Amino acid sequence: MFTSLDVRKEYVIFVNDMSYKEQIQIDRIPRHVAIIMDGNGRWAKRQGLARMFGHRQGVETVHRITEVAAELGIAYLTLYAFSTENWNRPKEEVDALMSLLVDTIAKETPTLMKNNIRLLTIGDLDRLPEGTQMRFRACIEETSGNTGLNLVIALSYSARWEIIRATKEIASLVLQSEMLLEDINEETISAHLTTANMPDPDLLIRTSGELRISNFLLWQLAYSEMYFTDCLWPEFTADEFYRAILDYQRRERRFGKTSEQVN
Ligand code: IPE
Ligand code: IPE
Ligand code: MG
Repeated sequence: MFTSLDVRKEYVIFVNDMSYKEQIQIDRIPRHVAIIMDGNGRWAKRQGLARMFGHRQGVETVHRITEVAAELGIAYLTLYAFSTENWNRPKEEVDALMSLLVDTIAKETPTLMKNNIRLLTIGDLDRLPEGTQMRFRACIEETSGNTGLNLVIALSYSARWEIIRATKEIASLVLQSEMLLEDINEETISAHLTTANMPDPDLLIRTSGELRISNFLLWQLAYSEMYFTDCLWPEFTADEFYRAILDYQRRERRFGKTSEQVN
């Protein structure tokens, strides 16, 4: 007799002659996929190129994966583009990344419009150079009426920054007697995070073989499925993305319950 895991393995073998894309169960697409896009620098180094070449190539991957996500009907795709800690990189790299962001947004806005994608950001946008902020705010405004994929870019983002910010907001409401201490619950905290109104990620992907979270969405990832791949971000293809989703679809999400309870 098969255990449920064996049955899932059999299923994968049975459909092995189908492409990864064809194996995806369209009624079980994760609603929210978050990605830690890592490995641009190492990719460039391997080609004997400067780190910025890796970041430029990484932008191509963003383009590709965003289109795939929209096509699959994923509702939210959150991409970790620049962390609070990344401000500590050499000034030269930070400046070059900021201009790459501006150029990319300018170039990609027509594609976002064409694909009905809405751009959102999470993070401390105020820390970005004025020009970068303006570009992002303009694109957010222009795409605000789009109803397809929500593309969320985490910029100058860190989960601890976000939790401190939420704590201050909630504490201030309590101090002003606008909220009762005993009314603070999970919903209150979620509503004060930068991801308010977004579902928690179902699937977190990290490329480049690093097995860590690096201060990303600490609260929101409480029950997300994790997928780590050695693939460097500039080489992350549509097929790699499909593989991650297939892996997710083979898992049983129990949320603390027993297998019998969720089946
Ligand atoms: C991820 O690639 C992109 C950013 C953090 C901006 P890295 O730049 O971290 O690449 P590695 O980890 O050095 O290879
Ligand atoms: C995480 O990558 C941040 C982004 C992908 C933007 P890092 O390369 O900065 O993470 P660490 O420093 O290796 O943990
Ligand atoms: Mg890195």
